[in-house]
Amino acid sequence: MINQDKTLKTLQNYSDALNVKNIPIGYPGNQSFNLDKFFSWWGKDLSSYILNNAGNPEDIGNYAFHTKAFEQDALRSMLDYCFLDQKSYWSFIASSGTKANIQGFFIARNYLSSFGKPIFYLSKEAHYSLFTAANLLDVDYRVIPCLPNGEIDYNIFEKELEVDRPTCINVTLGTTFKGAIDNVEKLKDICKRKKIKKIYFHADAAFFGGYLHFFYPNLYNNFDSISISGHKFFGSPIPFAVFFCKKNIKDEVAKLSIDYTNSDNMIIDCSRSALSPLILWWHLSVKSKDIWLNEAKQMLDNASFLVNELNRRGIAAFCNEFSSIVYFRTPSQKLCLKWSLAVNKYSLEGSLAHVICMQHVSKKVLQDFLNDLDNE
Ligand SMILES: Cc1ncc(COP(=O)(O)O)c(C=O)c1O
Repeated sequence: MINQDKTLKTLQNYSDALNVKNIPIGYPGNQSFNLDKFFSWWGKDLSSYILNNAGNPEDIGNYAFHTKAFEQDALRSMLDYCFLDQKSYWSFIASSGTKANIQGFFIARNYLSSFGKPIFYLSKEAHYSLFTAANLLDVDYRVIPCLPNGEIDYNIFEKELEVDRPTCINVTLGTTFKGAIDNVEKLKDICKRKKIKKIYFHADAAFFGGYLHFFYPNLYNNFDSISISGHKFFGSPIPFAVFFCKKNIKDEVAKLSIDYTNSDNMIIDCSRSALSPLILWWHLSVKSKDIWLNEAKQMLDNASFLVNELNRRGIAAFCNEFSSIVYFRTPSQKLCLKWSLAVNKYSLEGSLAHVICMQHVSKKVLQDFLNDLDNE
């Protein structure tokens, strides 16, 4: 066996280097989560088990080493947190928002296919995981251009709608780059006017899904499925996501039962993490809704502080309503690297960068960033 201390030293060098890196402010991850007590328990008591939550959270097979009771509890808390009815939804914890988006399109395709050849709509600013999903599932899809703020262009959507086909619409609640929120009510009205018979609405709420319902309490009820990443608003050292789907739709498409897991085969993955459900369970147990709401309010407040400060400096900066993503023309590469700013090229606006005011991006952090910008 190779010396473990030497191997550990390599890891130590890696974490030491992380410690001196600047605070990242360009990506949607809450870096101020506190899981110290949780991980000291995990390391002491659980790190030598192979735990696996394979199959549906509510189906218990013969393999006894899992955390499904905690997963069920976390999902009940999450439904409650999101103001969703416990009885109407089927849910599980997926390995990422990407996987939960693919899962949403997978269920939509299977459900809609019994009514004809479905067509999927997604905006140009939708996350690439939805393009991956459409490609993987080999479905017909249309990409709808966006308004300048990143929302789907409703007029073009209306013109592009194929009225005779079962329809799946991806609605982004917080686009990756500009933080735009597609208006599901407007999309629903258009579909009603056009007399679309079978529609499935999927919400990609990867980041904003952690808080948007506080400001629009009935919003999530509009959707047949919803994907919310766990490592973004809530914070986690490993990625995961919560996937919700209307129970009646899931039951309609879940035909095949798998003896091996004592479960149906609706979840794309077989093995699933037993750790991420515990992380969500911990987060929702130790912090009340009010604390999460206050964090969200602080993030939005910090985002408007940054917009004002940038505008005051003559830099045009934008931020959508209920978004903590501030975008503006790309500063120097040195600054982008130092602060881990994400950058995107637009045909009209050119190269843009964004800052995401997550919980760890305080006004003090923003002020340090602005000082660097002033010294450019
Ligand atoms: C809007 C949106 N959807 C989906 C994803 C993918 O989520 P994940 O990183 O959990 O796979 C992201 C990631 O940033 C995102 O911004």
